[in-house]
Amino acid sequence: MRKTFLILVATAAMVAGFWALAGDAAAPKEVLTFEAKLGTVTFNHKDHADKIGDCAACHHTTKAGETPQSCGSCHDAKQVVENAPKLKDAVHSTCWDCHTSKLEAGEKSGPIKKDCKACHVKG
Ligand code: HEC
Ligand code: HEC
Ligand code: HEC
Ligand code: HEC
Repeated sequence: MRKTFLILVATAAMVAGFWALAGDAAAPKEVLTFEAKLGTVTFNHKDHADKIGDCAACHHTTKAGETPQSCGSCHDAKQVVENAPKLKDAVHSTCWDCHTSKLEAGEKSGPIKKDCKACHVKG
C-alpha cells in the first residue's frame, strides 16, 4: 500500500518535472489554424509539442518558464525587421526544415516545401 503511494508520488513529480523542463506553465493550445489565400492550415500544436518535447524547437526566443509570444510579435508580415525574416518565411522554414530532416532520416514526418496543398486546404 505504502509502496504504491510512493510510486504515485514519484510519477506525479516526474510529470511535473517534465513540464518544468519543457519550459512552461502555459500548456500548448490543442490545434491552431492559420487562414491563408492558398487554403487554411490546420496545425496540431499539442501533438507536435508532446512528440517533440521542446518548445524552443519552434519558439526559439522563449526561455524556460516563459510563455511563448506569437511569431508575429517580432516577425513582420511584409518586411525583414532586424534580421527577423518575414512571418511567412519564418513559419514556413520552421515547419519545412524539421519535416525535411525527419524525412531524410527515414522517420515519420509531415509535409515538405513542395507539398503546399498538404498543409493549405481549401474549405
Ligand atoms: C508544413 C505546412 C506548410 C506547407 C507545406 C506550406 N505552407 Fe504556406 N503556410 C503555412 C502556415 C502555417 C502559414 C501561416 C503563417 C502565418 O501567417 O503565421 C502559411 C502561410 C502562407 C502564405 C501567407 C499567407 C497568405 O495567404 O498570403 C502563403 C502565400 C503561403 N503559405 C504559400 C505557400 C506555398 C506557395 C506553399 C508551397 C510551395 C506552401 N505555402 C507550403 C504552412 C505551410
Ligand atoms: C512544432 C512547432 C511548435 C512547438 C514544438 C511548440 N509550438 Fe507553440 N506555437 C507554434 C506556432 C507556429 C504557434 C502560432 C504562433 C502565432 O500564431 O504566431 C504557436 C503558438 C503558441 C502559443 C500562443 C502564442 C500567442 O500568443 O499566440 C503558446 C502559448 C504556445 N505556442 C506555447 C507552446 C509551449 C508551452 C510549447 C512547448 C510545450 C510549444 N508551444 C511548442 C509552434 C510550436
Ligand atoms: C521575441 C521576438 C521573436 C519571436 C516571438 C519569434 N522570433 Fe523568430 N526571430 C527573431 C529574430 C530577431 C530573428 C533573427 C535572428 C538573427 O538575427 O539571427 C529571428 C529569426 C527566425 C528564423 C531564422 C532562423 C533563425 O533561427 O535565426 C526563423 C526560422 C524564425 N525566427 C522562426 C520563428 C517562429 C516560427 C516563431 C514563432 C513560433 C518566432 N520565430 C518567434 C525574433 C523572434
Ligand atoms: C521539430 C520538428 C517539427 C517541426 C518544427 C514541425 N513539425 Fe510537423 N511534424 C513533425 C513530425 C515528427 C511529424 C509526424 C508525426 C507523426 O506522424 O507521428 C509531423 C507531422 C505533421 C503533419 C501531418 C500530421 C498532422 O499532425 O496533421 C502536419 C500537417 C504538420 N506536421 C504540420 C506542421 C506545421 C504547419 C509546422 C510549422 C508551424 C510543423 N509541422 C512543424 C515534426 C515537426
